[in-house]
Amino acid sequence: MIRIPRAKRKQKAPQNSLRGKKFPFQSPKGMHDILPQDFLYLEKIEKAFKKVSCFFDFLRLEPPLLEDVRLFERGTGPNSEIVQKQMFFVKSRSRSESSLVLRPEYTPGIFRAYVENGLTHSLVPAKFCYWGPVFRYEQPQRGRFRQFYQMGFEILNTLDSVYDAQIISAVYKILAELHLKGIVVKINSIGCRSCRASYVKKLRDYYKNKSFKLCNDCLKRLKENPLRLLDCKEERCQPYKANAPQTLDYLCNNCKTHFKSVLEYLDEAKIPYLIEPTLVRGLDYYSKTVFEIFVEGEENALGGGGRYDYLSESLWSTKLGAAGAALGVERVMEAMKSQKIVLSPKKEHKVFLIYMGEEAKKKAFVLMENFFKEGILVKESFSKESLKSQLRQADKEGAEIALILGQREVFEEVVILRDMKSGNQETVPIEKIVPQLKKRLRFL
Ligand code: HAM
Repeated sequence: MIRIPRAKRKQKAPQNSLRGKKFPFQSPKGMHDILPQDFLYLEKIEKAFKKVSCFFDFLRLEPPLLEDVRLFERGTGPNSEIVQKQMFFVKSRSRSESSLVLRPEYTPGIFRAYVENGLTHSLVPAKFCYWGPVFRYEQPQRGRFRQFYQMGFEILNTLDSVYDAQIISAVYKILAELHLKGIVVKINSIGCRSCRASYVKKLRDYYKNKSFKLCNDCLKRLKENPLRLLDCKEERCQPYKANAPQTLDYLCNNCKTHFKSVLEYLDEAKIPYLIEPTLVRGLDYYSKTVFEIFVEGEENALGGGGRYDYLSESLWSTKLGAAGAALGVERVMEAMKSQKIVLSPKKEHKVFLIYMGEEAKKKAFVLMENFFKEGILVKESFSKESLKSQLRQADKEGAEIALILGQREVFEEVVILRDMKSGNQETVPIEKIVPQLKKRLRFL
């Protein structure tokens, strides 16, 4: 479901017809339905996310889906691809209100919420986690959607390198918890404002006399955002990228010490990493540590993040250091599928309710109300009428116990309790069915 781009889906989709009548709607381009079979994966991923969040004491924060466009223009950065090309605007009914966009990422919204809700004194550092949908106007392809889910962590109001490492450890742990193979963190440091300036100058000088050989995007990057030259995937730009000056050679002492310390934490914790000198990330707010996390067999990063000490300055003219990361939920799910991580649904419903006739149907309906109160999970098949088809359904669903109610049982106020494995049946007075079931379910 999730992996198939729209064009292919059109060819392959079933007719969506009821007696030859075609259904005229499709989900919007790049946006998919999450079907029941995917929830098996989603729930597993969410469980890992919650376990890790709880362990590291991250507090859940959920900002609104819509935010003021200026939050991203200033936060994510005017030169980022997100701001230049990928935001979905929402037209407001009132002209006096500022433009709103569907959030293309969480980080600036989390920071806004931290400040706006007056938490800057009570939570220092503040550790937040989140899980929810994110929107980017992209050309849909494998692992790239217009609506996707992110789970992430942000640690605000700290300059300490231990928190860069803790963020990496948290995303690493989620993937490890899901038994994904070949997890590797690619890491780099892009320095602070002062050392980056001299590095960017070197990079510009290096690329300047090659400009006639570069792709169009790189020519633009050379003018507007030279760091992103290192991000280019075009074949013709690769040789220049390979020989380009590296950020690590231009770090100031402070940034060098910071990076060394992050790597030491990772070494101590035996978190595998690779130093990747061309890793720069596409969002403008990063400083010092940047990283992406990959697993075996997947070309796309499953997550990414780093330190962003200047976001608070660009949004609020104050200095509050921060570090964070987000994982793409769909990408994690796809990786689990590609690595053949098989999940089987837990059989929670062990009891199946069968009725025959209208009176019994009513009684069965009321019985379900009782079972809900008593916490007994029960399946039904009210749309089927014959005993045979309902029993077949109970068998197919793997029920252990069938409760059968016919006209006679309703009249005598009893229920037939059938052991689906042995086929043995007994008649139980209706007022005793709850304790009887509870007793049996304890042993199943
Ligand atoms: P990002 O690298 O843009 O970083 O996104 C993080 C993750 O979201 C990616 O690694 C990927 O798994 C997933 N993702 C991104 N775009 C798409 C897409 N179009 N379709 C499916 N999945 C996608 C951020 O968003 C930063 N806010 C991370 C961060 C948090 N940095 C500091 N704190």
